[in-house]
Amino acid sequence: MTETICFLNGEFLPLSQAKISVLDRGFIFGDAVYEVIPVYRRKPFRIANHLQRLQHSLSAIRINNPYHADAWSQLIVDLIARNATDDQSLYIQVTRGAAKRDFGLPQGLTPTVFMTSNPLSTPSQEQIQNGVRAVTLTDIRWLRNNIKSTSLLAANMLRQLAMDAGGAECVLLRDGYLTEGSSSNIFVVKGETLLAPPKDHLILPGITYEVVLELAVEQSVTTKVREIHELEVKSADELLLTSSTREVLAITQLDGKAIGHGKPGPVFRRLHRAFQDYKLTWQ
Ligand code: PDD
Repeated sequence: MTETICFLNGEFLPLSQAKISVLDRGFIFGDAVYEVIPVYRRKPFRIANHLQRLQHSLSAIRINNPYHADAWSQLIVDLIARNATDDQSLYIQVTRGAAKRDFGLPQGLTPTVFMTSNPLSTPSQEQIQNGVRAVTLTDIRWLRNNIKSTSLLAANMLRQLAMDAGGAECVLLRDGYLTEGSSSNIFVVKGETLLAPPKDHLILPGITYEVVLELAVEQSVTTKVREIHELEVKSADELLLTSSTREVLAITQLDGKAIGHGKPGPVFRRLHRAFQDYKLTWQ
């Protein structure tokens, strides 16, 4: 098997040779932001949106973006070309850089830029046909979830609790309202209407979320972006989750109870089909 090629601070190299300082603030404090970009047939999906979101995350934590969008695009294309599979999941991380451990946000450090690639692993046919199980949990994360930060301990603990209960994801509730999943956005279907929580500081503005809302409009599915009460989540006709690696997936069981008829519903099937068609046309 050929080794994964990654990018670290201006250099392409085998993943096993990539090294960073133990004083890197990404390591010490989780002082870093990231992106995950799906790559279909060697084309990075919605790259402009991912690079815009990366810019927002960097600005929010006061790190100067080390590259302009064109330079990022070129590095991403180069990394894709150096790795073996056609469909990849590209990971980008930018940390503030290395410094003596101290609080506050030191100025003038050289950011650490790391990118790597994995073969893209999308949901199995079984998951598409039957949907997945999820559990509701209290959203114990911070109040800046619109920043795609690598400080993901709470998200990892929440995902583990969902997995302990036999679920593939958790559906997070804050003060009685839906936020999102541990690493996905969540949609509720009520009758013919697709409900999505607003893109505020409590959720990550998902790129797949945006694509699914666009596709819903094209498919003449009524969409409403508004706060969603937990009772609406628990009595949903359908529940969907979206992310760059899971695409669009139905949640068919929540807290051990069937959602709708316990099978992926008609809105899911339309949006899933539309998403599969759309990604194939992506250039
Ligand atoms: N996570 N919400 C959270 C908290 C996420 O971590 C993610 C993605 C999403 C969906 O965003 P997008 O559609 O842009 O992938 C929503 C990625 C896949 C991850 O951390 O691996």
